Amino acid sequence: MRTPLIAGNWKMNNTEVEALSLVRKLIQGIKSLTTVEVLICPPFTSLSQLSKLLVSSPIQLGAQNISDHDAGAYTGEISPRMAAEFCSYVILGHSERRAYYGESDALINRKTKVAQRADLTPILCVGEQLDERERGQAAVVITRQLQGALQGVKLSDPSGLVIAYEPVWAIGSGLSASAGETADFIGGVIRPVVSGLWGQEISQKIRVLYGGSVSPENAGGFFTHDEIDGALVGGASLSADSFLGIIEKAS
Ligand code: 13P
Repeated sequence: MRTPLIAGNWKMNNTEVEALSLVRKLIQGIKSLTTVEVLICPPFTSLSQLSKLLVSSPIQLGAQNISDHDAGAYTGEISPRMAAEFCSYVILGHSERRAYYGESDALINRKTKVAQRADLTPILCVGEQLDERERGQAAVVITRQLQGALQGVKLSDPSGLVIAYEPVWAIGSGLSASAGETADFIGGVIRPVVSGLWGQEISQKIRVLYGGSVSPENAGGFFTHDEIDGALVGGASLSADSFLGIIEKAS
């Protein structure tokens, strides 16, 4: 019912030359994509060249961040419209932006709204810290993040937003969450919050990804669960072989 999405978040990696080389390998490896949607989110500096390389490829481009303003005197920022020249998606609320750049739920809420205005589909990241999980607070934290980021956001089409559940302790640690627990959490916590915001039908149709140390070895375990609609992949998206391996598991 929901088309799986495999998204690669390159983070602050790859110069333009390196990006072109990696994407050439991905294009060669992906013959035809019918059952899975594939997205890569490189740094802004490579978007223009990559968009030319990908012109007849099914691989889509996404941004890793945008400004919370539409345009104007905001030195160093990239506007939603600038990103939308090349991208169909934008990652918002990633835990690294929350932790290192102080992004609050209120700021992520503003970015979600400006992204929608520019026709960028937000991939909203939520995730609990290890101590929050150990104190049994994961559901409370994720509910607060979702409600904060999505307050006043209108959604009539479930394809207009993607949620990525990325437990912070699983990111870059090699310790992925258990696939079964993740599926239960998505079905038991995340979809009910979405249902409270926009109703049951949207909550069943919206895509919810898992992120955190996804590899070709463990990806298959996640994708056997109906609740998990794909993955947001960090480290393993920097190697063509491992990213292609994950895509293969999803298809
Ligand atoms: P890793 O796959 O490297 O754990 O990163 C996950 C992530 O943060 C994707 O946004």
